[in-house]
Amino acid sequence: MFRVNTMAALRMAEAFVAHVARSGKKLMASISSGMGSIADNGSGGYYAYRTSKSALQMVMKSLSIDLAPRGIIAVVMNPGWVKTDMGGAGGNLSTDESVRRMRGIFDRLTLEDSGKFWHHSGKEFPW
Ligand SMILES: NC(=O)c1ccc[n+]([C@@H]2O[C@H](COP(=O)([O-])OP(=O)(O)OC[C@H]3O[C@@H](n4cnc5c(N)ncnc54)[C@H](OP(=O)(O)O)[C@@H]3O)[C@@H](O)[C@H]2O)c1
Repeated sequence: MFRVNTMAALRMAEAFVAHVARSGKKLMASISSGMGSIADNGSGGYYAYRTSKSALQMVMKSLSIDLAPRGIIAVVMNPGWVKTDMGGAGGNLSTDESVRRMRGIFDRLTLEDSGKFWHHSGKEFPW
């Protein structure tokens, strides 16, 4: 889980940084979870999942700093509780709605918004 959530994002960034730097939007976004927030952790448990998402958030924060000189925005997203195999039928967002909301945020992001953790509602989420 740690490798998929964290090292994969870093490896993807390394592999595609030149392509992103030449792109129109210059955006790298990773899907984290509210479960990755230390500030929002009010229920404990889920050690591996929470830890891997917190580490992902640190990767994206460092990328936002290191890639800012190249004009690249790096952010992490909280997609909400989504009806997927993982989220289950109890989720309160469809995949279409979660993605629509996140794409709306992507459209508005500027370099000023880089290095932040974004909730699907468009508000910043606490680290
Ligand atoms: N659903 C939610 O409520 C929710 C909430 C917060 C965050 N998230 C995050 O959103 C992202 C997508 O989650 P989801 O809800 O769509 O989960 P999901 O329905 O369980 O889908 C997970 C996907 O990841 C793929 N996958 C799993 N392990 C992999 C590996 N080692 N290498 C390559 N691919 C792998 C699976 O592929 P296969 O189908 O081939 O196994 C599947 O396509 C995750 O990062 C999750 O942590 C989801």
